[in-house]
Amino acid sequence: MKEHKGLSRRQVLGMAIAAGGFTMSGAVSSVFAQTLKRTPGEILGPFYPVLRSVEKTADLTVLPGKPGRAAGQVIYVMGRVVNVQGEPLRGARVELWQANTHGRYAHPSDTNPAPLDPNFEGFAAQNTDAEGRYRFKTIKPGAYPAAADWMRPPHLHFEVTGKINRLITQMYFPGEPLNDKDILLQQLRNNRERAIAKVLAPTSDVEPDSRIVVWDIVLDKG
Ligand SMILES: [Fe+2]
Repeated sequence: MKEHKGLSRRQVLGMAIAAGGFTMSGAVSSVFAQTLKRTPGEILGPFYPVLRSVEKTADLTVLPGKPGRAAGQVIYVMGRVVNVQGEPLRGARVELWQANTHGRYAHPSDTNPAPLDPNFEGFAAQNTDAEGRYRFKTIKPGAYPAAADWMRPPHLHFEVTGKINRLITQMYFPGEPLNDKDILLQQLRNNRERAIAKVLAPTSDVEPDSRIVVWDIVLDKG
């Protein structure tokens, strides 16, 4: 074990726990690993947004000029964008798009009869901060039918653009029964666990019935 600026492993772990949220993430464990594995890529899918009116905000649960809040379970999705060396990637663009709580995309190509939510468009983008962090407030998406015999489990679509690499992928929720039957998630095989986030209880500064969803994203170089 290499020393890290005079800190013991126990001290570094303690700091990670004190920092909260990222304790179980790849970015923290990367302190002790030579390299991380890249987050697996996935298809763009048919519902990449055509409307981007809410691009400027990281809060997808409210729309400008509308008094209501999006229906469904509020989640705070956060994590770090790092490279395989575990170095945080500052200024990476993180785009998120998703279905609403009913499993419907606000997209003209979505033929799912599930209802639209007038308070939810399901798209946002932001750049990572100096530590490579991103954070969105949104709604846990519902499952939706992708074919007659295929229900997609709840998932978030991401596109992450660094200075060198660009990744299009999807993030999944742990413990979803549909995960085991999803064609796209199962295709990831040994990389499957890296596409599934950790869900934590809410911290004291957010809604008591919300959830914290932690997911780090690993690009190859940056
Ligand atoms: Fe999707």
